Amino acid sequence: MKTALILNGPNLNLLGTREPEMYGKQTLADVEALCRVACQTHGYVLDFRHSNHEGVLVDWIQEAGRAYAEGTLAGVVFNAGAYTHTSVALHDAIKGAGVPVIELHISNVHAREPFRHHSYLSPVARGVILGLGVQGYALAIAGLAGLLR
Ligand code: DQA
Repeated sequence: MKTALILNGPNLNLLGTREPEMYGKQTLADVEALCRVACQTHGYVLDFRHSNHEGVLVDWIQEAGRAYAEGTLAGVVFNAGAYTHTSVALHDAIKGAGVPVIELHISNVHAREPFRHHSYLSPVARGVILGLGVQGYALAIAGLAGLLR
C-alpha cells in the first residue's frame, strides 16, 4: 500500500481557534481524522505532518521525492500556509524532488488580500484546491488517487 503524505505549514496547528470565520472550527486533529477516512477509501497509508519551519518542510519534500522514486509514496497534499506566498525554497524543493504535489488552501486566497494572490507553489504543483474548507483535504487525496489511475 502506498502512502499519501499530507503536509501542513505555519499556523495550521492553530486551526479551530485561528480566525474561525475564515478557516472554520475544525482542528488540525479533525483534519487528520478526515484525511484518515479519505486514505482508507483510496487505499493509502496516511502520513500527516505539521511544521511551522520552512526548512523542515523543505526536508520533508526532499524525503517525499526519494519515497516517490522508490515507489512507496503516491504523492503529497501540501497546505504551505503563508510560505505559499513567500517561499522560493519550497518552489525549488518541489521542482527538484519530482514528486506530485497538490497545493491546498482552506480559504479562497484569491478573494483575500492581494499578497495572497501569488503562489510560488502553483507553477510546480500538479493541481490546486482552494476555498472549499477542510473538506478540500479529502478532495485532494481523491485527486492523488485519480492522478495514479
Ligand atoms: C492558507 C491560506 C494562506 O494565505 C494563509 O497564510 C494560511 C492558510 C489556507 O489554508 O487557506 O496560513 O494556506
